[in-house]
Amino acid sequence: MDRQAKIDFILDHYENPRHHGPLADATVVQKGGNPGCGDVITFYLKITDGRINDIGFEGDGCTISMAAASMVAEMFVGKTLAEVEATSPDVILDLLGREIAGTRLKCALLGLNTTKEAVRQLRPTT
Ligand code: FES
Repeated sequence: MDRQAKIDFILDHYENPRHHGPLADATVVQKGGNPGCGDVITFYLKITDGRINDIGFEGDGCTISMAAASMVAEMFVGKTLAEVEATSPDVILDLLGREIAGTRLKCALLGLNTTKEAVRQLRPTT
């Protein structure tokens, strides 16, 4: 994808966010934020048998953070908790395009980091 195609892809996710909105029956609800700008996000995960059955998110943030959250939500439905934890930030940066996301890392990774934090909450404590 060239730069314009990446921009169009990001804008499409921003304007038509996938899995947008809370889940009433979420297994875990996780808030995240970017202290640098005050933007916030909440992810709702419904887990069945160690797998993400459904995801919802809502938030108030910049185009990059909200588009990336939509991409994360779309990507993680059906994935196991282990797969979420193993997902490298590179996956999101490649989706957004490094030229665009490289200087906006905190925005780009807000959704991924919040989802990973949600999964960490589900780990049994020993
Ligand atoms: Fe706040 Fe991007 S400027 S998350």
